[in-house]
Amino acid sequence: MTELTYKENIFPGTRQELIDRISDQLRPKRFQHVLRVEQTALELAAKNGVDAEKASIAGLIHDYAKQRPDVDFIAAIKAYQLDTELLNYGNAIWHGLVGAELIKRELHIYDEDILNAVRHHTTGDVYMTPLEQVVYMADYLEPARDFPGVDEARKITAKDLGTGVAYQAQHTLQYLVENGLPVYPKSLETYNAWVPRYQK
Ligand SMILES: [Fe+2]
Ligand SMILES: [Fe+2]
Repeated sequence: MTELTYKENIFPGTRQELIDRISDQLRPKRFQHVLRVEQTALELAAKNGVDAEKASIAGLIHDYAKQRPDVDFIAAIKAYQLDTELLNYGNAIWHGLVGAELIKRELHIYDEDILNAVRHHTTGDVYMTPLEQVVYMADYLEPARDFPGVDEARKITAKDLGTGVAYQAQHTLQYLVENGLPVYPKSLETYNAWVPRYQK
């Protein structure tokens, strides 16, 4: 396991202090997932020329708000004047898009690339920086993930990060549609921006 020493002053504290703040927010299972996402993000970051400290922080905080009650998100959407369309969705969408706002205020992390990686880790986005792509894929591929096609997804992503993003965007949309689940418009935009482009 890689344990970075933070030097870039992105989070006002040590990695251990950040971990303590996160473990206060999450039940043990979710917390262990977060640690695995950090490690997978570090591997993908090294391969793709992405800053390791940013990958570590983004990986650790991506699910910071996952176990907050709905009322916290609804209050935040109103207080921070976020798109009221968000009120029609739920935790799956809120913990990233709205979670980033809670992270800013509670953890004092203001790096927009990191915050966008949190915002877009579930839905993806039309444009994603290499860091955002790393976190999006690390969440999908961390070692405990076990879904049909995960090995193929890991292979594809090891070869080319963008092709991995397209794979996930396609399969996530497919899953939502097949199960009659709501599709947040951004997920559809992500599909359109990434999937046809990577089709051979
Ligand atoms: Fe998440
Ligand atoms: Fe996650």
